[in-house]
Amino acid sequence: MLGRLLGNASQSLLKRVSHIMKPKVIFVLGGPGAGKGTQCSKIVEAYNYTHLSAGDLLRAERGREGSEFGQLIDNYIKEGKIVPVEITISLLRQSMVETMTKDQTKSYFLIDGFPRNEDNLQGWNRVMDGKADVKFVLFFDCSNEVCIDRCLERGKSSGRTDDNRESLEKRIQTYLNSTRPIIEQYQKHGKVRTIDASRSVDEVFADVKAILDKEA
Ligand code: ADP
Ligand code: C5P
Ligand code: MG
Repeated sequence: MLGRLLGNASQSLLKRVSHIMKPKVIFVLGGPGAGKGTQCSKIVEAYNYTHLSAGDLLRAERGREGSEFGQLIDNYIKEGKIVPVEITISLLRQSMVETMTKDQTKSYFLIDGFPRNEDNLQGWNRVMDGKADVKFVLFFDCSNEVCIDRCLERGKSSGRTDDNRESLEKRIQTYLNSTRPIIEQYQKHGKVRTIDASRSVDEVFADVKAILDKEA
């Protein structure tokens, strides 16, 4: 029916356009302080990707006047727990739609700090399945000690309520218990690109570039 209405040429054009417009997503994961945000900023400078940090979106929602979730988000962040996915996915989806509405060529996304647990992953699959292509997971791998040291250093100026030793211990536990199993699931499907994130920013970025130049 659609084929007859549009004609074969327009139909295949439509298919191509919707393929081009379908958001292409790289999930960016790693421990707290592994350098996800730092590397995403560098990717944005060099490639046509939009960076969406789930943590940044949650912090913005926490601070938004009139938000019904402010207090809940605040508690979860201090406790290093993962906010229920309904909240996070609606923020992510809203940002993706806004980005693509403003500029139709912006359909490449780095989704940083997501999916962080099974609830996140299932929420994504429920809401986004078929609507976005997840290309792979960029995994910034470094030891818990390096992660903690970097966050404590960042805490001197970040003003974040969770860059302190007490919250960090909880965040590391959440990372080990909830996020690593998600990375392992993607690994089983050959969808993880692991980078040694314990080196300098520029050394890490050289590896990121090699991956993106080859695959993205
Ligand atoms: P994440 O988003 O993974 O929590 P950030 O990118 O915010 O991590 O980095 C955490 C802290 O560590 C920041 O203060 C940042 O400047 C610093 N940092 C990031 N990458 C490196 C690196 N490769 N070597 C040393 N410090 C780094
Ligand atoms: O990624 P970032 O370090 O900015 O995340 C800070 C906090 O935000 C996490 O420790 C967690 O409490 C919350 N968060 C979340 N769900 C996500 C990402 C972040 O609940 N997918
Ligand atoms: Mg970050």
